[in-house]
This record gives sequence, C-alpha cells and structure tokens, in this order.
Amino acid sequence: MSGLATEDLKRLVESARVYRDVYASPEVFELEMARIWGHAWLYVGHQSQVPEPGDFITTTLGLKPVIMVRHTDGETIHVLHNRCGHRGAIVCYQRHGHAKSGLFRCPYHGWIFRSDGSLRTLPSPGGYKDVGFDADDPAFGMPPAARVAMYRGFVFASLSAEGPDLPNFLGEAADTIDNMVDRSPVGEIEVTGKVGHRFLHRNNWKFFIENLHDAMHPMVAHAATGDAVKQVLDAYPDSDVGRPEAEVIAPFGGSYDFFDEMGFVGLPRGHGYMGGSKSIFSHYQMYPDYLAAMEEAYGTARTQEILSYNKHNTLVYPSCTVRDGIQSIRVVKPVSVNETVIESWTFRLKGAPQSMLDRTLRYSRLINSPASCVGPDDMSCYDRIQEAAAAGTIDWIDLHRHLGREVRDGERLTAIGTSDLALRNQYLAWLDYMTDGAAGHAA
Ligand code: FES
Repeated sequence: MSGLATEDLKRLVESARVYRDVYASPEVFELEMARIWGHAWLYVGHQSQVPEPGDFITTTLGLKPVIMVRHTDGETIHVLHNRCGHRGAIVCYQRHGHAKSGLFRCPYHGWIFRSDGSLRTLPSPGGYKDVGFDADDPAFGMPPAARVAMYRGFVFASLSAEGPDLPNFLGEAADTIDNMVDRSPVGEIEVTGKVGHRFLHRNNWKFFIENLHDAMHPMVAHAATGDAVKQVLDAYPDSDVGRPEAEVIAPFGGSYDFFDEMGFVGLPRGHGYMGGSKSIFSHYQMYPDYLAAMEEAYGTARTQEILSYNKHNTLVYPSCTVRDGIQSIRVVKPVSVNETVIESWTFRLKGAPQSMLDRTLRYSRLINSPASCVGPDDMSCYDRIQEAAAAGTIDWIDLHRHLGREVRDGERLTAIGTSDLALRNQYLAWLDYMTDGAAGHAA
C-alpha cells in the first residue's frame, strides 16, 4: 500500500493548481483506487440489462471485477465479486448473458454458486468433511459488494460499508436521473443493445471527467468539426441533407459566450453539471408525435417543466456522467495510472417514438464513439497532458481561470461556464476522499 501521508497528498492540490503526480504517479493511482473508488457509490448498470432471473452483466468497481445479476426471486439485483471462493479464479468473463437456474460454475474445479453469491455445491464434497471447512462461510462464495442500491432503475454499489446512503450521496445530481426517466411518456427507460461503446483512453481517468465541464476547449479542440458542419449548412441552405447530424454537432462549435451563459454548478462530493435553463440540447427540434405523447401523459404544464430542464453532463463523481436530454450515460473504468476505458450507453424512452431513439443513437455515434467526430479530439489532448505529466515537462497543471469569482449558495457553488471551478470542485472532493476528510472540505 502507498506510503503517501496526508501532508504529502495535501501538497499535490492547491487552490488553483494541481501537481503532475495526480495524473502520473502509480502510487497516487493505487491510493485513489482504495480511497475514492473503494468508498464512493459507483455506477454498475441499469436494471433493464438484467430483466430475467439469472440474467447478468460483468463489469468492474474500480479495479475489482463484479457481476450484476438478477436473483432467482426475480426482484433482487445482486452485485457480486466476480471471483471464486476456492482459489480466486474469475468465474465469468462473458460481458453479459444468462446463468441457467441462476447458477455460476467456476471453470477451474467446478464450484457452483447461487445468484446471491452463496456456495451451492462443490465436487467430491467428502474431501471437505471434518477438515474445518464451512461451506456456509461467505468467504467461500462470491461475496456481494458491501452496499448495493438502486435509484430509479440505476444500480450503484459501494465497496465500503460506511458512508452516506445512495440518495444522500447523489444529492442534487439525482435530479438529472429523474429527468431522464421522466422524459419517457410512461416513466420508464431501458438500455438499448447489449454492449455500449467501449473507448480505451491511454491516459488517466480524471482527464475525461475534468474535460466534461472544461468549456474553454470545444471552440478550439473541436473547431475543425464545427467548421465542417457550418460549411455544409452554408452550402446547402435549402436542403435537409446533414441537418440531423448538424443539430448534434453544431453546438460543439459554440462560442465562449454560449458556454459562459450555460454556467456551471458545483455540488458536494465532486458532482456537478453545466446548464440548467440552457444547454447544448436547448435548440434540438421537437418531434410533434413525442410532444403529443408527453402531453397526453403529463399535461401541458408538467411536460414543459420536464422538457425545459436543460442540464449538460451531470457528473456523478467519480464513476459516471449522465446526459438526460439525449438519454445517455458514460461510465469511467480506470485500468491503470495511464489507461482508462470509457463506456457509453444509450437508453430508449419507453412510449416515445422511434425518432427519439434515432437521435440518441446518432448522438452517441457522432460524439461518444471511438470513431466519432468529437471524442478523439478530446482524447488526443488528454494524451498530450499525460505525456507531459509523466515526463515532468510541466510540474503544475493550472486551474486559475475565474478563481474566487464563484458564488456559494448553501452547498452549491456556481460560476460562468468557462470558469475552472468545475475542476477545482472535483479536486476538493478528491482531496477529501484521499485524506479521509482531513482536508476539511464538504466532500
Ligand atoms: Fe474456482 Fe477452484 S478456483 S473451483
């Protein structure tokens, strides 16, 4: 385990800069896995991914492989450590599937586990009689995560038995999940497809979540894409060619003023979001058949309230970011100090017309996928900082922009969109997790 003391960690994070080790030190990464990813509630999956008893997906909590499985009672969703209680082999490598009768069988010596993780049978049991072996000891099963909870169909787990419960952990960030579900005329959503986009980044996990609310980069990093869209629209002003794609891409070429007006809200525990009344989704066309379905379900006033909610990239620190307006979620999977997998999942609004799902998938393809017009721009920039941090060509990473101009309202911190408050707010939480609260912030 890391020999980093609290004072060492405090020296890495100042009010307006962070030391390069936060991105490049394997020792810091190891401690992050234990103190941040080992304590926070982490997104696991959505209940719609395991509709039937025995259905499962495999994923990770930090670096720990886990299985999310619907129990044979049909109701409970368990999150189990994906390791055999015998000698620790990973039980299941399949990304998703169905365990017949809710049973998992280890491929090495054939121990069999129930969908609640308990050991059911092992071969030739006589060898374990009168040798001090207790088959009911949970250590010989596939142990459940310390805590598992669901919020409106979104399953979270924590590797720690201590800490706030899920609603308190989420706080105001839960509003974005609410809004995504409320956008369905029947109040239900489901994951589309069995596998989301998986995008391997060869850089530290924090770059992705910091970039979500870095509003100084789109007009530079994504300029080529934004310009190409404008050229197409200018060239074919009376045509519908490229319009659906332009609707999605054009906001990424927005001005500094556009992003400043969106604003940023920093929440406790590192959570935060851009927008509120305005976001990159504000000018999306409204499909009349969708509006009609919503108004029939909720009435005009409530429909307007739901659809005028315009947040962008609500970060549930550290593990996921939710886009309610386009019904997608991206999930952060740290692999090593300089490797991260970003998964992108899309959702169907049950009861909504196909045009809404088409737009969601279009957005995912154009913005989130490894072959998209936008994501690789960002990744290239993270790579450059990662290289500099590892090589020591820069020691301190700057976070000065609009320092001290944020406004506190209770637990919330607000600022114009191009402030570096978004990053500073994440590092308040980072330091609190890493020092077990000794830094004194309200994480
Ligand atoms: Fe799983 Fe032996 S390691 S049964």
